[in-house]
Amino acid sequence: MPVGRQKAKVLCVMMVLNIFICILVGVSRNLGQDKSSHSKVRIPSKRFWHRQSLSKSFWNREQQRLDYMYNPVLWPAPSNNSLVDLLDWLNYSRPINPCEPDNRVPTQILDYNSLPLRFQDFLLYMRCRSYPMRLNQPHLCNNKPYLLLAIKSLAPHFDRRQAIRESWGRAGILANRTVVTVFLLGNASSEDHFPDLSGMLEHEAKLHRDLLQWDYRDTFFNLTLKEILFLEWFSQHCAHTRFILKGDDDVFVNTLRIIDFLEGLSEVKAKDLFIGDVISNATPHRDRKLKYFVPESVFVGPYPPYAGGGGFLYSGQLALRLYNISQQVALYPIDDVYTGICLKKLGLVPEKHKGFRTFDIEEKYRDNACIYRGLMLVHSRTPQEMIRIWSWLIAPDRDCQ
Ligand SMILES: *[C@@H]1O[C@H](CO)[C@@H](O)[C@H](O)[C@H]1NC(C)=O
Ligand SMILES: *[C@@H]1O[C@H](CO)[C@@H](O)[C@H](O)[C@H]1NC(C)=O
Ligand SMILES: *[C@@H]1O[C@H](CO)[C@@H](O)[C@H](O)[C@H]1NC(C)=O
Ligand SMILES: *[C@@H]1O[C@H](CO)[C@@H](O)[C@H](O)[C@H]1NC(C)=O
Ligand SMILES: *[C@@H]1O[C@H](CO)[C@@H](O)[C@H](O)[C@H]1NC(C)=O
Ligand SMILES: *[C@@H]1O[C@H](CO)[C@@H](O)[C@H](O)[C@H]1NC(C)=O
Repeated sequence: MPVGRQKAKVLCVMMVLNIFICILVGVSRNLGQDKSSHSKVRIPSKRFWHRQSLSKSFWNREQQRLDYMYNPVLWPAPSNNSLVDLLDWLNYSRPINPCEPDNRVPTQILDYNSLPLRFQDFLLYMRCRSYPMRLNQPHLCNNKPYLLLAIKSLAPHFDRRQAIRESWGRAGILANRTVVTVFLLGNASSEDHFPDLSGMLEHEAKLHRDLLQWDYRDTFFNLTLKEILFLEWFSQHCAHTRFILKGDDDVFVNTLRIIDFLEGLSEVKAKDLFIGDVISNATPHRDRKLKYFVPESVFVGPYPPYAGGGGFLYSGQLALRLYNISQQVALYPIDDVYTGICLKKLGLVPEKHKGFRTFDIEEKYRDNACIYRGLMLVHSRTPQEMIRIWSWLIAPDRDCQ
């Protein structure tokens, strides 16, 4: 078939030519770039950031106020109508005592009266970030821990705390590293029909010296308070700690595996470490029946990647930066999403690590002692399970491949 062959030949030649031209263009572009980058820096003639009009959702609007406060360059031009809106909003935000309920909030949110009570409550106190401590341990970190285990607990969970102390959270020297454990508590108040546990807590605090308690209602929507109050305490009393594991009191943590992992990190990697069970591409739940429901009148937009609040591991240096930036981020009712928002503002992305199993492991492996050697954190375990699993981990010479 001479015609077919000739076609093929022409095609071949054209392809070779094409490739040649591509290479030529590529090379000349590179040369061009090199030249200009040596000679001058290009400065954009126009503004390269966006000005936004005020959001209709309360949290977003409150965040815009903080953004404007910390970045005046974002302000609209004086001739613009949005400036009037903005000034109104800032005037609305005039300092009143941020810890008094903010009675102007109901007029700012159209469907306020139909929101679940926990939401109304959250919104009324959203500006308040400081609560007095009822129990403190200011000297807890005097011996500069390598790893601080900061466990979110609730006043009545005495058995969970004790199981952690007797198992994976045993403070002292572990694998030749100083480990310190601390429990984070709010107030189990009579308002929420808790019995008065304050005497028992005082006793526990004297006995173990590992309780921090702040005087605010310990509810799900106040967990973000727990987060920022911990970061504040950390910055004041524990700033030289290398690493922090923050988690719930119903997780099992393989502290040995975690220390082993941390020791293998390079300095660069260790500095901005933030790992856990990371959730990406999430958006707020709009179903009112769900625990995580957030109405559109309060928040719109996607969630940044965030590590599930069951437990995550990060560096002490990063905790200090998170504390700083948190002052520029409006409180959000879901604590792990809030930490994700703060990380995003720092330009960081939390990293997913498959050793973190906040959604548990397959049922058939739950009694397999060897499986736990490779894991860092599993949710959820009872106090008895914690003690049992820990005994498997520290038993010498168990045959695990
Ligand atoms: C005013 O600013 C908003 C954004 O802040 C912009 O969309 C709008 O075009 C501006 N209007 C004028 C008249 O400059
Ligand atoms: C700010 O708000 C208060 C009360 O809402 C009002 O009396 C005052 O005139 C406002 N100030 C400005 C500058 O808009
Ligand atoms: C224990 O840690 C110290 C420093 O923290 C180090 O100097 C020492 O060599 C370690 N010992 C062992 C047995 O690893
Ligand atoms: C905290 O709880 C105690 C009882 O344990 C109660 O007396 C106190 O009023 C509570 N504080 C707040 C702010 O609710
Ligand atoms: C958070 O705690 C404060 C202080 O005790 C309380 O006034 C508020 O109602 C709590 N918020 C929620 C959503 O429980
Ligand atoms: C936090 O902010 C303060 C003041 O704004 C600054 O002096 C400090 O260096 C910051 N710390 C970190 C870790 O970014």
